[in-house]
Amino acid sequence: MAKTLFTMSFAGTGADGCRGGPYPDCLGTGFRGDAPRTSGCYGALGTGGAAPEGGRSDSPGTTARGSGQAGGRGPFDRTLLGSAVLRNRIFRAAVGDTVEDGLPGDASMRLYGALADGGAGTILTGFTLVDDLEKGFMPILSLADDRVLDAHKALVELVHSKGAAVVAQLVLIGSYQSTEFHKAVTPRLPFLTLLSPSGLHDPICGASPRMISGPEIRRVHDRHAEAALRAKKAGYDGVEIHAAHGFLLSQFMQPALNRREDEYGGCPENRSRMALYTYRAVRQAVGEGFPVIMKVNVRDGFPGGCDFGEILGLCRTLAREGLDAVETSGNWRDLPQNSGPFFLGEAAEIAAQVSARVILTGGLRTLDDMLRVLSETHVEYLGMARPLMKDPAFVNKLKTEYEAGTAGGGTGA
Ligand SMILES: Cc1cc2nc3c(=O)[nH]c(=O)nc-3n(C[C@H](O)[C@H](O)[C@H](O)COP(=O)(O)O)c2cc1C
Repeated sequence: MAKTLFTMSFAGTGADGCRGGPYPDCLGTGFRGDAPRTSGCYGALGTGGAAPEGGRSDSPGTTARGSGQAGGRGPFDRTLLGSAVLRNRIFRAAVGDTVEDGLPGDASMRLYGALADGGAGTILTGFTLVDDLEKGFMPILSLADDRVLDAHKALVELVHSKGAAVVAQLVLIGSYQSTEFHKAVTPRLPFLTLLSPSGLHDPICGASPRMISGPEIRRVHDRHAEAALRAKKAGYDGVEIHAAHGFLLSQFMQPALNRREDEYGGCPENRSRMALYTYRAVRQAVGEGFPVIMKVNVRDGFPGGCDFGEILGLCRTLAREGLDAVETSGNWRDLPQNSGPFFLGEAAEIAAQVSARVILTGGLRTLDDMLRVLSETHVEYLGMARPLMKDPAFVNKLKTEYEAGTAGGGTGA
């Protein structure tokens, strides 16, 4: 089946909307895009399924293949992502850890150990604070200062001892437009200053944030860079910048919430600048080779949410600057759990157009779906959150099914 099945056509792809506009300081790179992929199916590329980009070979070898999958890419191929060897293509998508004082404790150790034992190739940590100022928001992991390093090292060593990779997901929360969040946090911390691109009151969740200033924006870039370097020192296999789900970075890409009239708002390039400059700061801190991933929303599901053409343009620019992978997400909370894969059309389009690897997350539940994604698109990696919350050993079960060549549907959450 041709990969175009999953390929959508988007008006505004390669948007260059800023030229000639009121913002002379628009990104100079022009969003022209890097080499689009032209081959229809990866089966022809042989074992390993390395993406044909920039001479980069990403296949140190392959693991088992089930019957019926000979010659194509499979979920259990070993691949290289930057400097990291990943034992299979399956990521545990980020699920926030409840921890004390930002430290991975016994519960995190048990969970990550079980996920690694359960076969996940790579574990994305729960969202992890980069700035101590947000410490009161939620009891989640932190990489905001050096005191946490030893605890993170222990977590990484445990995961590595079980053969999996682990990537730290970095977040700057901002005003996070979620009703539940505001109900939980605002009464507890009424003095908390919430920051957002334009300080717009949100009538639905009741948040009244303040517009983030220029120096505070630079602090966001710097804090991400410092946390990324800590993650590298702790032994993580990479970092993921969280630019999805209504957290601060993603709000910059939502025209309804970003009404800024400076270089961070007003046109696609400007709206993308927050994510791009954060990436640049992180890359400068961690150096070449260390995997950097960005999680983006490709669909927000509300008027004035992100524009897919803009997101595609951002992904192109990031890929040209060395981003290793994009994880595609969106308004997953609004979608029926088992109606996925949710963002397949957009993920396939990014994978076809952009040289960074694509991790498809949201609604993946069965081996059949995974095989279809790998055979019909250029998506490289498969992310799952809820199926592994229900059963941390789900990946091993998929592997058994794969090796038996019985791709007849899984039993995920
Ligand atoms: C309880 C829970 C916690 C989550 N925490 C995070 C998080 O920390 N960071 C993040 O990017 N996504 C988070 N997500 C979203 C997942 O990573 C994923 O994008 C979403 O659940 C869709 O994938 P799924 O259908 O495989 O569950 C969370 C999801 C759930 C259910």
